[in-house]
Amino acid sequence: MMKANPGLEGVVVADTSVSDVDGERGRLVIAGLDVEQLARTATFEEAVSRVLAAGAATPVAAAGAQLGAARAEAWELISRLGDALDHADGMDALRTALAHLPSTTDDLAAAVRAIGAGPVFVAAWNRRRAGQPPVAPDPSLSHAADYLRMTTGRSPSPEAVAATNAYLVTVIDHAMSASTFTARVIASTGSDLLSAMVGAIGALKGPLHGGAPGPVLDMLDAIGRPDHAERWLLDELAAGRRIMGMGHRVYRVRDPRAAVLEEAARPLSSDRLALARAVEAAASKILRERKPDRPLAANVEFYTAVLLDAVGLPREQFSPTFAISRLAGWSAHVLEQRRTGRLIRPSSHYTGPRPA
Ligand code: COA
Repeated sequence: MMKANPGLEGVVVADTSVSDVDGERGRLVIAGLDVEQLARTATFEEAVSRVLAAGAATPVAAAGAQLGAARAEAWELISRLGDALDHADGMDALRTALAHLPSTTDDLAAAVRAIGAGPVFVAAWNRRRAGQPPVAPDPSLSHAADYLRMTTGRSPSPEAVAATNAYLVTVIDHAMSASTFTARVIASTGSDLLSAMVGAIGALKGPLHGGAPGPVLDMLDAIGRPDHAERWLLDELAAGRRIMGMGHRVYRVRDPRAAVLEEAARPLSSDRLALARAVEAAASKILRERKPDRPLAANVEFYTAVLLDAVGLPREQFSPTFAISRLAGWSAHVLEQRRTGRLIRPSSHYTGPRPA
């Protein structure tokens, strides 16, 4: 009889050229480059071009250059979205708004359309809930700069733009994450790319996947001072709760993206950076003592919280910002999935009653 493996650990479901995670050594390669190098040297537009090219069967070198036009195209839709953006949760708003984009069988056009629309919809959602009018995109700006400007209504500082760009590049893809798998399952049925994006957002929304950075900031606020960290963390564990931003399904060492984002957040001189480092050190020590057989180190969400807060995004916008970047990775995987042409359809183990 087949036994179920509910977390699918160790099950290889696809060959991919988009990215690779080495969980033992803490290494992440995205479209042929280490995440450290990509985050230091690439604009988000270049990273988009790279991942789409990695996933696509035919060359798509300059796809990222079309994002400004795609943002402008999405803006045309804003006035027609009505209350589709009026969700309390930004992920719900992004999911609903993306579903309004015109569908097309041209996957690459759909990918550029969705990646361009992400920041327009998320920034508009945030402004509407704050009672402010949405800000139109400026296609001449970089994706990172325009996203910040559309969110705050002000010209962002070069430091904030650089940090936001580094963030968007860093989280653009991460091998077979739950949301990526979701996107690939949807694509494998022959469904359209936008449907795959909408489904993937649903998967990313959960706190075990992309929903943790807001709670990480809540934790830092609750701790307040480095010397309070240990007591607070012990109480949290005693209450049966997990420490947000710690642990990962694949990494057995510190998530390499934590280091990249910690570095990228440094020029923003956030008070929270020093606190975050102290909390990470205390959490690592406590979890090492509590779970000596299961290495639990900081994951990407830990310094995501510090960085996105320091560039001026509200915490409710953290998970949608993750999604804005990951739309590119998901799209690359959809393009790649198309090349296999194979329906993903695993099996289950029936445990219910059988007819006599
Ligand atoms: N704090 C405290 N304990 C943790 C923990 C955390 N952040 N993460 C895992 N553990 C413990 C579990 O309680 C479990 O202990 P047990 O065997 O005594 O029950 C053990 O470590 C293994 O956990 P498991 O649930 O099997 O790991 P996983 O691979 O399914 O979990 C995460 C990975 C990310 C879901 C998990 O580490 C987590 O919930 N982290 C906090 C949320 C978070 O940061 N999410 C963002 C991920 S990028």
